[in-house]
Amino acid sequence: MVPQSSRPVRASFDVAATMRDGTVLRANVFQPDDGGAGRYPVLLTRLPYGKDLPLGSAALIPEQAARLGYVVVVQDVRGTFASDGEFFPMLAEQRDGYDTVEWAARLPGANGEVGMYGVSYFGHTQWAAASQHPPSLRALLPMHTWNDTGAPNAGVVWRNGVLQFGGEVAWQLEMALPQLPRRIRNDPQALARAIYALTREIDRLPTQGFSELPLDAFGPFTRAGTGEAWRYSIEARENPALAVQSAVAAAYELPLPVFHIGGWYDLFLGGTIANFQAMRAAGNRRQWLLIGPWTHGNVNHVQGDVDFGFVSGGALLDYQIDLMSLSLQFFDHALKGAANLFNAMPPVKYFLMGANVWKSAGTWPPAEAATQAWYLASSGHANSLRGDGTLSSGVSGGRPTGAEAVDSFAYNPAAPVPTVGGAHQLPAIFRRGPVDQRPVEERDDVLVYSSAPLEAPVVVAGPVAATLYVATDAPDTDFVARLVDVYPDGRAIALTDGVVRLSLREGLQTRAEVRSGEVYRVEIDLWSTANAFLPGHRIRLDVTSSSFPRWERNLNTGADCARSTQMCVARQRVLHDADHPSHLTLYVLPAEDAPA
Ligand code: BEZ
Repeated sequence: MVPQSSRPVRASFDVAATMRDGTVLRANVFQPDDGGAGRYPVLLTRLPYGKDLPLGSAALIPEQAARLGYVVVVQDVRGTFASDGEFFPMLAEQRDGYDTVEWAARLPGANGEVGMYGVSYFGHTQWAAASQHPPSLRALLPMHTWNDTGAPNAGVVWRNGVLQFGGEVAWQLEMALPQLPRRIRNDPQALARAIYALTREIDRLPTQGFSELPLDAFGPFTRAGTGEAWRYSIEARENPALAVQSAVAAAYELPLPVFHIGGWYDLFLGGTIANFQAMRAAGNRRQWLLIGPWTHGNVNHVQGDVDFGFVSGGALLDYQIDLMSLSLQFFDHALKGAANLFNAMPPVKYFLMGANVWKSAGTWPPAEAATQAWYLASSGHANSLRGDGTLSSGVSGGRPTGAEAVDSFAYNPAAPVPTVGGAHQLPAIFRRGPVDQRPVEERDDVLVYSSAPLEAPVVVAGPVAATLYVATDAPDTDFVARLVDVYPDGRAIALTDGVVRLSLREGLQTRAEVRSGEVYRVEIDLWSTANAFLPGHRIRLDVTSSSFPRWERNLNTGADCARSTQMCVARQRVLHDADHPSHLTLYVLPAEDAPA
């Protein structure tokens, strides 16, 4: 429960702040109505989703925070809603962030110290501002957000060099909608036509739009008259200098306390963890990382097919406190020196799925966790749930010793493996999070490697990686790996996944040749998870070549997938023998950490 206060609150709407180039941005300001007697820290959020719409109050209810002694500033970013200027995703957030922090610090009633908060884009606006070192910035609370927009593994434009396709195009179409009345001012009929055209494209994405090619002249954008930011992203793959950079690394130099909030099924989990680790590596100990079993912007205790228990959710975290009150405690601690839960908060607090308990750690991964390899094997028919793929731990002698069969499948980009659950931000008709994978595991183009039913729990907490020895007959192609928890009744619940583009196997800035039939060792970064595989459950790794429309399809021709319409079928092979020990790497906690 948010602590109550009887302090009256004053709200001022559309308060103008002039940026260094003369553009005026507007904010709602909530503050204690004390006749000007007091000075309070500022809590600032900057978002493109409308300061007057529900998301403007989603992370923190401004009136509640003001009642507790803060000046709360909720600002529309440049080019959105009440603010002037042009909106181009991420581009202006560094300068505007700096200018707004310094403006907010000097508002009447402000004490000169600013904390920032927010989720996703308005998590990012914090890092963008911090990268410019505004002197009045004192604390950050970024939730479900990425690190550097231009980073090839940030999850916002790319995942490991592969376009984070479906969620990004859906987001850009939706962001174009409130732009229309700004662009078409004096012609109501033209405006109505434009709104109709755009919403039609949004509606058609799942059934038709996502499949259209080429991506650089993407039909839904062309017909809706939008897509500038998308084209820019595609250009940036060939010319990284064009990428919208956020210079977040410069923010790591600041001695700011930061409360990083992530979700096991959030598409920005990798960046959330990377930001925490980078701040800690810079010697800044006032960092706290909280990771729940959550999807993007959703902290409910039920996600996908799984109920993780009430205390996994934001309503009563770990029997202690709701997420908004915890956020306020963070600012009370960081900006007012209050003694509260943050005095004893561990650096890392994470939800261990499967056991369904919260755990503490000093670092990520937890220092007690040790890597364990789980080796793939089969008699050459690991295709689908009906196949013979197995997974066994090196601890019990799982490493292959002799010649073994090779698994193979045909990847056809015209019929890609559909995205079912996982860490994505696709339109809501695509389910998110921990969803049963059996519908995709029915397919012959999905290799399924499962352990025997476990006799004792295997408690995993840390990064997950798949090392695969693969070959293809295509000039380029992708491989996708997914870690799955198989329940005794057969449910196959997705945990985490990743993708690699064969031509980018040597690094994301170099394009390496792919020779037909040659065996390559690839590392697939599946980011992180924390899951107790319980007795009777199986550990499973699915290997395939697509997850569409979440990731762009590799068209298998070797041409830039964003610019072509040609595609061909790739014949893929996954080797697992003594010379090619394909395996999954997990961080496993000692037995005493296993759930009772
Ligand atoms: C978001 O705010 O949810 C978001 C921002 C950029 C890309 C995708 C999602």
